[in-house]
Amino acid sequence: MRVFAFFLPLLCLAQGPVEYRIHRAPSPITIDAKLDELAWRFAPATSEFIFNWHESGDKEPTEAKLLWDDENLYVSWRCTDRHISAYEKKRHGPVSKDDCVEIFLSPNPAAVKNYYTFEINAIGTMLNRCRTAWWTGPPTWEPEGVEYRTTFHGLARKDESADDKEWVVELAIPLKNFSRDAAHTPPRAGDEWRLNLMRTGGKTNMQHSTWSPIPPTSQKSFHTPENFGKVVFVAEQASRRTARAPRSFEGAAEGRVIYNRSCTMCHGLDGAAGDRAPALGAARRYFRRSEAELYDAIRNGIKGTGMPSSPLPDADIRKMIAFIFSIRATAADVPVEGNVEAGSRVFHGKGGCVTCHMIRGQGGLLGPDLTNIGAERKLEELRRALVEPRPVPVRGYQPVTLRTKAGAPIRGVVKNENNFSLQVLGSDNKLHLLLREEVAAITYETDPPMPAGIDKKLTPDEFRDLLAFLSRQTRRSAR
Ligand code: HEC
Ligand code: HEC
Repeated sequence: MRVFAFFLPLLCLAQGPVEYRIHRAPSPITIDAKLDELAWRFAPATSEFIFNWHESGDKEPTEAKLLWDDENLYVSWRCTDRHISAYEKKRHGPVSKDDCVEIFLSPNPAAVKNYYTFEINAIGTMLNRCRTAWWTGPPTWEPEGVEYRTTFHGLARKDESADDKEWVVELAIPLKNFSRDAAHTPPRAGDEWRLNLMRTGGKTNMQHSTWSPIPPTSQKSFHTPENFGKVVFVAEQASRRTARAPRSFEGAAEGRVIYNRSCTMCHGLDGAAGDRAPALGAARRYFRRSEAELYDAIRNGIKGTGMPSSPLPDADIRKMIAFIFSIRATAADVPVEGNVEAGSRVFHGKGGCVTCHMIRGQGGLLGPDLTNIGAERKLEELRRALVEPRPVPVRGYQPVTLRTKAGAPIRGVVKNENNFSLQVLGSDNKLHLLLREEVAAITYETDPPMPAGIDKKLTPDEFRDLLAFLSRQTRRSAR
């Protein structure tokens, strides 16, 4: 309940078509189907693919990313797939019967019907078409200078195998191929295109999944450019920061209402633990993490368990998924108010935090290392850690004062102890390993070392900034 009071005001965003910001590649990209460049690691993934027309089979997710530079548009697909098969070897052959990925793009948003297609199967056979009003050539098209690789590139055939897990396609398309329809070549920051990314084919679990959904009212076809999503070329380079952009949880507020109406008899109110089903927002390892998996569980139920299928409309299920994501989100996943730089100054200065806490190798040892705290805790948990007093000292942080028989006084926290020995991390930042028989006197203090009521010790702005700073501490962030 509390969690919500805290970030509900940030959740009110209108529902619209899918959108993606294409960042500039920060460094050269080698087309080898490996995606091991920092550029790819820093590029944000698109929202998850939607399974249009799904009837049966596993909904296997696809992670797609786009980047650009002055020469090329770069596209990558990472396809989770336990059954990979491909046989078509002929250029422009019917590759979509095989496990296949596709991108269809309209460089001119005012004329979406002018679009270009790239379809690539798992063994690296490509089919291209130029579906534009001006094209008078053959039904297929030869784009210039395209480079691409797939995980099984060049194999004579790919049969399904028990080892199948995933396959990757990496593609670089020279932007000059689109100069006839694009406003600028290369694009300028702010230029908007429309496109869709797809996945289809294969013998088992034929997917028909797309980044931009194809609504039930539409013709059942990928060739419906009116359904393409919107992409914007941005000047910002992909960086650690863009890799984990805080997301907004569209529809989560409505999703909460629907959830509390339909699901609380088993799952608890607001996603807390229920009598008959797991807490959907608890800090535990979830079986189901992706949008597709959650959708499947809620729409179809979970066989052999008490989890029933749901007759609710798709839109309601999507909103409940947004709600579930929002209650699972750690501090780093959500937008926060406040100034991160100013918060850093509080942490290192007036707050006195750095004397006990380390971030990125700098600071004291008495308290836990906070380098990754934004990814480990929810925003509300961070706030509570700073505000609420601990009823008793936390295990591993029990403060003690002791004197050894040799006469040395030691203050610190007990890290480990048993009948014969104890390890004390002293306020001198040294670990003291002591046998019981060496200790002359020991006092266990009742006040936990972590000060409570930090919100009272700082101004409201300082407290807000400190919280913003903590919430952005992740191993992946550059701060
Ligand atoms: C009759 C009881 C019942 C109702 C009603 C119910 N659930 Fe469940 N749900 C369960 C049980 C039991 C499980 C655990 C199944 C398992 O062991 O995998 C579960 C699991 C889930 C999971 C998977 C959790 C995970 O991390 O894998 C999701 C998501 C979920 N439920 C969502 C919902 C939503 C949303 C609603 C309301 C539309 C709902 N449930 C209604 C009993 C219920
Ligand atoms: C005297 C040492 C000390 C000081 C000063 C101190 N802390 Fe702590 N802090 C601790 C200890 C010990 C713990 C772990 C035990 C606990 O949570 O009570 C802790 C826990 C925390 C946690 C929870 C970590 C987790 O894993 O959930 C956060 C967040 C935190 N401190 C932030 C701060 C901030 C921000 C400041 C400065 C305003 C600060 N601390 C000042 C000792 C300190």
